[in-house]
Amino acid sequence: MWDKRPDTIVHEESPFNAEPARSALCGRDVTPVDTFYSRNHGPIPEITKDDWQLRITGLVTTPLALSFAELTGRFDTHAVIATLQCAGNRRTGFNQVRDIPGEDPWGPGATSTAEWRGARLRDVLQAAGVQDDPSLHVAFGAPDVSDLATPVQPYGGSIPLPKAMSEEVLLAWGMNCEPLPRVHGGPVRVVVPGFIGARSVKWITSITVQPEPSDNFFQSRAYRILPADADPDTAKPGDGISLSSVALNCDVLAPEDGATVPAGPMTLHGYALAGDDRTVERVDVSFDGGSTWTQAALEPTHSKWGWQLWSFALCAAPGPLHVTVRAWDSTGSTQPESAATLWNPKGYANNSWATANFDVT
Ligand code: MTE
Repeated sequence: MWDKRPDTIVHEESPFNAEPARSALCGRDVTPVDTFYSRNHGPIPEITKDDWQLRITGLVTTPLALSFAELTGRFDTHAVIATLQCAGNRRTGFNQVRDIPGEDPWGPGATSTAEWRGARLRDVLQAAGVQDDPSLHVAFGAPDVSDLATPVQPYGGSIPLPKAMSEEVLLAWGMNCEPLPRVHGGPVRVVVPGFIGARSVKWITSITVQPEPSDNFFQSRAYRILPADADPDTAKPGDGISLSSVALNCDVLAPEDGATVPAGPMTLHGYALAGDDRTVERVDVSFDGGSTWTQAALEPTHSKWGWQLWSFALCAAPGPLHVTVRAWDSTGSTQPESAATLWNPKGYANNSWATANFDVT
């Protein structure tokens, strides 16, 4: 479905929600398009390049309406390798603490990295004469109507103007040197490296510069950390904490969790990711549930906005092997130990220590 590889784990066919097996992500700086996870809240629109138009309005001196040819011809093209991670990544860890009804049980694969190609959002906003006020917000509108929203409405979201003016934020029409596929937002999507995937609005058709964050359901009601005792069905717009920067996270990608592996030399592989203005500085591995830790080897990075791959070589003795990993970022912060302390009613941002278990024979 949607040209994804046959071993893709499909949570829902409509709206299409699917993630790769963790081992499919392993060892690659850039995730192939057929492997990249896909997260949708409504039917996937079909918009041709000829039909597509982007309107830029609000607190700008020169409102614009750009065709695909104008966007791609008028502005310089830039490429950014960036990881997208859904805020629901690793929700299965929360489900083990307490059930989260109505939300897909995403495993570790709602995380993928691509080379995105497009115009800088900054260049387009400057062409529209955006006001220079860091308190403003840039709201994105899309045509896919979601009946998961209350009331039913098209998908949308916003980011603060200072982030929108950062050089890494793109209006992308290319993914891994191909035209942006329809399922990933083609012909044009926003890519907001360092922020939760929800802000990288697909099939973008409107940009509005405004004093407040977007009042779209997926900004004002969803993708917020509600208190553990809150009822998401009765939460009001603005309740909870709005998610922006993606949380520091890491995982084991290979071998597959639960695999049987032969005794002797083996190598663990994984990724780590630090949000927005932070970088991954270290990944630690523990074989005793976190009492003692040893450093993993970090591979060279190809982009500040992409994930950091790591590996750890060991000699495995026969018996059960329990692996725990955690990352540290450039602010000196590390990941919290348990999902129970982070549990929230919508199941967002599980960045607790990651674990994998192997049977060594
Ligand atoms: N944009 C639109 N228009 N509609 C959506 O449902 N989902 C968001 C974001 N942009 C979404 C969207 C979420 S929650 C994520 S995690 C990313 O797209 C997923 O992008 P992908 O499907 O290309 O992996």
